[in-house]
Amino acid sequence: MRVQSVHERVVLDDDLLLSGDNAVALPRLPEGAFDLIYMDPPFNRGRAQSRRTLAVSANGNGSRVGFGGRRYSSRLLRTLSYDDRFADYLAFLEPRLVRVRELLAPHGTLYFHIDYREAHYCKLLLDELFGRDAFMNEIIWAYDYGAKPRRRWPAKHDTILAYVRTPGGQHFDADAVEREPYMAPGLVGADKAARGKRPTDVWFHTIVPTTGREKTGYPTQKPAGVLRRLVAASSRPGAWCLDPFAGSGTLGAVCQELGRRFVLVDDNPAAVEIARARLGGRRAQPSSPRTSGTNLTASSCSR
Ligand SMILES: C[S@@+](CC[C@H](N)C(=O)[O-])C[C@H]1O[C@@H](n2cnc3c(N)ncnc32)[C@H](O)[C@@H]1O
Repeated sequence: MRVQSVHERVVLDDDLLLSGDNAVALPRLPEGAFDLIYMDPPFNRGRAQSRRTLAVSANGNGSRVGFGGRRYSSRLLRTLSYDDRFADYLAFLEPRLVRVRELLAPHGTLYFHIDYREAHYCKLLLDELFGRDAFMNEIIWAYDYGAKPRRRWPAKHDTILAYVRTPGGQHFDADAVEREPYMAPGLVGADKAARGKRPTDVWFHTIVPTTGREKTGYPTQKPAGVLRRLVAASSRPGAWCLDPFAGSGTLGAVCQELGRRFVLVDDNPAAVEIARARLGGRRAQPSSPRTSGTNLTASSCSR
C-alpha cells in the first residue's frame, strides 16, 4: 500500500491511502473503476432537533406516486430555515455522492453508513441522486453496547443504505457471505441448522471489542465483521473498493483479508497514521514518475 497526499498524481497501480480532503481526491479517481464504495461519513451528531422540508411538485415523470396514480417529483430543500449546520451537512454530502456514483462500475454498489438521526434525510438525498429504482437495501446493524436511557427505547443500531449504479445490474454473490446460525434451529432440519442461514438485512453484530487485536483506538472504528459481508457480497476477488471516509482503515483491512484492491481517503492525519500502521503502508516518493496503471490527473477528470 502506498500513502500519498490527495494533491499528488493518482495512479491505481497499488493499494492507496490518500491523505487529505476527499473532495480533492474523488475527482482524481477513474470513473467506473470501483465494484464497491463504502462511505461512513461523520454522523452530524447532536442535530436531533433540526427539521427538513421536501418540495413536492406535480411531474408526469416523477418518482413519487400519489393518490390516483398521479406522479410527483420531490426535492430536498437545503434552505437555512431550521438548521444551518444540518443544511451544511447535506450540502457537504451531495457533491461527494454525485462523484461517488460516477466512480462506481456499472455493476457497482454504494454502501452508505449513517445513524438513525440522519438516515431518513440521507435516504431522500440518495434517492434523488441515484434514483429510487437504484435503492437495493436498508441494512440495520444492531449492536448492544453503552448507556441505556430509561425514558425511551435505547437506540442501538446504525443504518447502511445500499444503492447500485445500474438497477438490477449489480454484482451480488450471496454464496460468498458467511452464514450465521438460525434463530430457531429446532424449526429446520439438522442439515440446514448445521449449515446455517444466509444473513438478512438485519445484522446483529458486536461493536469493535474494547480489547483485542482488531481495536485500533480510533473512536469511530467499525467492526471488520460488518464490512466483510459487504465486500464479500458486492465485489469480485481482485476488484477495486473505495472508502472516502476511511478513518482507521477498516475497509482496507477487510480488502487485504479477502483479496480485493483498495483506495482509502481521510483528511485527519491521526486517522491516516493509524490506517498506515494497520495496513502496512509505505510513504510515496512525491516526485517518482509512474508509467503503468490507470492514470488520471485532475485535468483529465470531469470535476
Ligand atoms: C466515522 S469516521 C470513519 C470510521 C471508519 N469507517 C473506521 O472503521 O475507522 C469518518 C472519517 O471521515 C473523515 N473525514 C471527514 N471529513 C472528511 C473529508 N472531507 N475528507 C476526507 N475524510 C474526511 C474523518 O477524519 C473520519 O476519520
